[in-house]
Amino acid sequence: MIRVIFLGPPGAGKGTQASVLSKDFDVPHISTGDILRSAVAAKSELGQKAESYMNSGELVPDDLILDLIRERLTQEDAGKGWILDGFPRNVSQANFLDKLLVDIKQPCECVLNLEVPDNVLISRLLERGRKDDNEEVIRNRLVVYRKQTEPLIEFFRSRQQLVSINGNQPMDSVAADLKQVLQS
Ligand code: AP5
Repeated sequence: MIRVIFLGPPGAGKGTQASVLSKDFDVPHISTGDILRSAVAAKSELGQKAESYMNSGELVPDDLILDLIRERLTQEDAGKGWILDGFPRNVSQANFLDKLLVDIKQPCECVLNLEVPDNVLISRLLERGRKDDNEEVIRNRLVVYRKQTEPLIEFFRSRQQLVSINGNQPMDSVAADLKQVLQS
């Protein structure tokens, strides 16, 4: 059973590694980005509200995300553990999650922070080519990350929950480092 949060800039490998750990530890991989992209593809009300923010690299407003996370973490499969990827993304989401995890009695074990230099992030994302992976939007995502998400590093470090991993290595080596942390 693991309950962990992935932190790191766009392109750091959060989704890639969360997916590996989800299989290895048999717990759901909960990606707010994936949930939002599905909503956009389905043209649901959530998707229609979120799309313009996503296309410009801004965070979607908290009120679109918070209920969705509460609903997802209280589904039955999340009772056996979870890996959060892309949430929380700012201090108010982190405070919301804190209260929610107390309410549902599901403490988070650790926060895995993937560290990768900006030039590597940009080239990985340009190569991937998702809709929000063009140079202008990537640069804005990095600005938004520095301003809104990076403060969470100190937030979690001050609670002794943060473990930083070098994400600028081959995928298998990153996965091995992560497993070592989780099994220690
Ligand atoms: P989201 O989907 O969360 O995107 P992101 O944080 O920008 O993350 P990425 O998916 O780009 O990167 P990643 O770290 O997961 O890397 P990946 O494994 O994919 O969010 C998208 C948008 O949704 C946001 O901009 C926002 O609008 C909205 N949103 C989502 N959550 C929100 C929230 N909580 N609040 C508000 N808004 C929210 O890897 C990237 C590439 O690199 C891949 O091609 C991969 O194959 C490659 N790669 C990975 N690891 C390695 C490696 N070790 N070596 C070489 N290549 C690698």
